[in-house]
Amino acid sequence: LNNGLASTPQMGWNSWNFFACNISETIIKETTDALVSTGLAELGYDHVNIDDCWSSPLRDLKGQLVPDTITFPSGIKALADYVHGKGLKLGIYSDAGVFTCQVRPGSLFHEKDDAALFASWGVDYLKYDNCFNLGIEPKKRYPPMRDALNETGCSIFYSLCEWGVDDPALWAGKVGNSWRTTGDINDTWASMTSIADINDKWASYAGPGGWNDPDMLEVGNGGMSYQEYRAHFSIWALMKAPLLIGCDVRNMTAETFEILSNKEVIAVNQDPLGVQGRKVYVSGTDNCLQVWAGPLSGHRLVVALWNRCPKAETITAQWDALGLESSTKVSVRDLWQHKQVTGDAVSSFAAQVDAHDCQMYIFTPRTVTRSVI
Ligand code: DGJ
Repeated sequence: LNNGLASTPQMGWNSWNFFACNISETIIKETTDALVSTGLAELGYDHVNIDDCWSSPLRDLKGQLVPDTITFPSGIKALADYVHGKGLKLGIYSDAGVFTCQVRPGSLFHEKDDAALFASWGVDYLKYDNCFNLGIEPKKRYPPMRDALNETGCSIFYSLCEWGVDDPALWAGKVGNSWRTTGDINDTWASMTSIADINDKWASYAGPGGWNDPDMLEVGNGGMSYQEYRAHFSIWALMKAPLLIGCDVRNMTAETFEILSNKEVIAVNQDPLGVQGRKVYVSGTDNCLQVWAGPLSGHRLVVALWNRCPKAETITAQWDALGLESSTKVSVRDLWQHKQVTGDAVSSFAAQVDAHDCQMYIFTPRTVTRSVI
């Protein structure tokens, strides 16, 4: 969507994956503080996004949405002020239907009022869900909120949560800044891998202004191993997915923090070229040995060797799978070891990868240019 936002994928935190409906203004404030004190905010995680359940079950007599009086007694404006005071942005949630998925009031047919209310509160971001939609086509239900947000005159990031049901990659580029391509992620290896594969199909539709959204991160929620979370984070970064943390950042382990704070991997996600990397080569039983790659600015490439097999294996990236001439000399930097591996790889690069782990590299081709006199 051409609203000046989302030149790179959005980063931040969202309440749903860890807290679900158990949210409150205290949790949102403490999370804001934790993003700042851990240094995650400075690394780019600048959105604090409230998901479902912030609202009272009923609109007020004027038909306006009302924050839950028990869990958000100070209201959303006060919360936005707090978050802004810490240098971050506040996101809110509604639904392109008559109710949200947790049966709070939805914004269908209330788009103008609700967009104006969000803008008056100083909200910077809206996630717009797809429950209780009366069977009306998404293509009809999502644009009115885009127009209503635009009419507020405020810059509000518009995140479509249509779950990929009507192939939003095909039409949402003009509607939102990101669109979910899949159903909900859960904190398992099976869910994470299948979502990565679905999101991969839509790679060519992503770019600055509008990104495919394979759902929020589960890193740190406990259902996957360190290697699996590292693969999850690496592939989400490479796919130019939104990097929205979904764990309790007030209580992270050192391993969780190490994954989420990897500057080199974040830089891949935020690369200004904005091209979604994709699965470029598979081999092994059930295609469990995978090479994912994509172009980066400065004629560089990001290359991930992802082992989905049950044992450690060697994975080889051939230059032809990466679109490189086989004679091209490449210097290879490992983004998890934080060191250069070789300065002159030619025709292929191979590494041993642990079960379910993912190694991630930046390839810088060292082109030999000869000036013609
Ligand atoms: C469905 C969405 O896909 C989830 O991300 C979350 O927002 C829930 N609804 C909330 O009810």
